[in-house]
Amino acid sequence: MANLVCGFDILGLALSAPNDIMELSLTEEPAVTIRNLDSFNLPTDPEKNVAGVVLLSIIEKTGRRFGFDISIEKHIKPGSGIGSSAASAAGAAVAANHLLENIFSTDEIVQFAMNGETLASGVKHADNIAPCVLGGISLIRSIHPLDIVSIPAPDLFVTVVHPQIEVRTSDARQILKQQVLLKDAIKQWGNIAGLVTGFMKQEYDLIGRSLEDVIIEPVRSILIPGFDELKKGCKEAGALGGGISGSGPSVFMLSKDEATAIAVESVMKGVYNRIGIDYNTYVTTINKEGVRVEWLRS
Ligand code: HSE
Repeated sequence: MANLVCGFDILGLALSAPNDIMELSLTEEPAVTIRNLDSFNLPTDPEKNVAGVVLLSIIEKTGRRFGFDISIEKHIKPGSGIGSSAASAAGAAVAANHLLENIFSTDEIVQFAMNGETLASGVKHADNIAPCVLGGISLIRSIHPLDIVSIPAPDLFVTVVHPQIEVRTSDARQILKQQVLLKDAIKQWGNIAGLVTGFMKQEYDLIGRSLEDVIIEPVRSILIPGFDELKKGCKEAGALGGGISGSGPSVFMLSKDEATAIAVESVMKGVYNRIGIDYNTYVTTINKEGVRVEWLRS
């Protein structure tokens, strides 16, 4: 989940659910063969598939003659705002590195995976990729050169609602203003510093106060039906705060305990039942591990 409200393109966290399942194997044939085991109809041409471009870039970097077979069972709906493309990209990069006996560093894995994000959204950003690879909460201090910092955080609960409307990341980026007022920038970097400090010092009130975005949210929230009502209702139900997940349309809220996270889910359901839009909800936690690898045979 990218941005964490105030940290556009620089903050993200890994969710425990939903998650995708991929099976990857090495082949002698110098090609990437993709099999989709879900119903999302994603391209199987490796040049047009997020996981495919990541694997092609890894093969090219090694300079060796080999390929990969990959089957992908996605549970994170593309275009949901909860890092569907990052999950494909990070999963493929981490698994490939394991098959290649860990020849690449974590930074290199993130770089390879970012090629997938570029295909999906037209822009290189690591705020979904880094937490997928590393687990937990990541700060992307810089992407040129890559400088990722893991932020320790308390065990928070995350409630996500995904209204079933499509918001393409590329569209949600195009509507943003290219310039910000200094007074807004001052507010925003105060919030980013407050949020990171709140996570590190486990100060829940500070986390809540800092989950405020005066630059991106006012523009993007118009794409999300019921956004203001949702935010108000969730906070009244006890959520620390939250906002748009990635580029939307999903909206997330952080809570201190599971009972509050479930109460927040009821508010979300109530809003979209009333508006009459289909939705999915998730009550989950921060995934501290990131991509999990299991060997199927030796
Ligand atoms: N930081 C990116 C954005 C995340 O908000 O456009 C998109 O996945």
